[in-house]
Amino acid sequence: MKIINVPIKNNEYQINIGKGLIKGVSKYLDTKRNYIIITDSNIPKEYIADISSKINIKGTVVFPPGESTKSFENAEKGVNELHKLQANKDIVLIALGGGVIGDLTGFIASIYLRGVDFVQIPTSLLAQVDSSIGGKVAINTQYMKNGVGNFKQPLCVLIDPNTLETLPKRHYNNGMGEVIKHALIDGKELYKGLIGNEYYPIEEIIYQSILIKREIVLKDVFDNNIRNILNFGHTIGHAIEQQSNYEILHGEAISIGMYLMSKNTSYRDTLELLLNKFSLPKSYDYSVDSLMKFIVLDKKIVNNQINKITIKEPGNPLIERVKIGSIKEYL
Ligand SMILES: NC(=O)c1ccc[n+]([C@@H]2O[C@H](COP(=O)([O-])OP(=O)(O)OC[C@H]3O[C@@H](n4cnc5c(N)ncnc54)[C@H](O)[C@@H]3O)[C@@H](O)[C@H]2O)c1
Repeated sequence: MKIINVPIKNNEYQINIGKGLIKGVSKYLDTKRNYIIITDSNIPKEYIADISSKINIKGTVVFPPGESTKSFENAEKGVNELHKLQANKDIVLIALGGGVIGDLTGFIASIYLRGVDFVQIPTSLLAQVDSSIGGKVAINTQYMKNGVGNFKQPLCVLIDPNTLETLPKRHYNNGMGEVIKHALIDGKELYKGLIGNEYYPIEEIIYQSILIKREIVLKDVFDNNIRNILNFGHTIGHAIEQQSNYEILHGEAISIGMYLMSKNTSYRDTLELLLNKFSLPKSYDYSVDSLMKFIVLDKKIVNNQINKITIKEPGNPLIERVKIGSIKEYL
């Protein structure tokens, strides 16, 4: 069992990582409170049963799986389901699923009755190493991925690596895309562990990955400056995701973004090996113009300038303000 403290001012919480943890959630959650589980239809029913047998569950709201679930329509549906279940200000929402359910549930928790508590129980690798940590919650709009969102820190994050046993391989590899990003940003233990030949246990990968993200989040909780380095590969990645109509998964799309943004670097061959190891893509089939139409909507654009995030060498990320058009040289 590993515990990571996240000392965000007025919102301090713990991340608990342990195999089998989902069977003993009452150890981490207040058993006097009422909970509502929000999940998607792919998440095995046994996880819901394990949680429900230990704490007071007022109801379960099940959404269809997939990126399109992160919508205004579903945020409204979720809110109405909570009203039907007569959830009051004391309710705690449990996000049980991947990053889609985590982002949607956190967003609902941030707006329902002007805000209620929520807990993250991430079940995909991507959610365990990245999206459940740091408090960014969002839904997509017609024009922009994560176009509407909020900052909402969870009461706690409970990670059971055993849940990855039911996660399809493609989604496991997808999560490794974000792990590789963290490894490159940090350039230390996780990076060395991934490129080393010896067996590197998944609990350790999750733990190291979270430590890296936590350090960056704590320096810039509201994403005004340094936190932007976590968006390495994301400007191009988000455009690819949207242009593919989300058929290319988030971790896959940012893998392409990272590979393209790493041109002329000393570590590019190592990155290629890592991406190949997890069957992650390095190229795309779209026109440059089709991607630029998403890139020009980037949230950080001011005065026609965008944040360009590169990693000069592992452990040495860089944010530069550049003209939007200059991103084209990487496409
Ligand atoms: N908030 C953040 O900081 C942040 C960071 C990175 C990514 N994200 C978001 O996360 C989302 C992607 O997350 P994701 O990759 O987890 O996608 P996802 O939530 O769609 O989950 C992937 C698939 O795996 C299934 N699944 C999840 N856990 C399972 C399990 N244990 N067993 C069987 N099936 C399981 C889901 O039903 C889904 O079909 C994107 O919307 C992305 O924008 C958010």
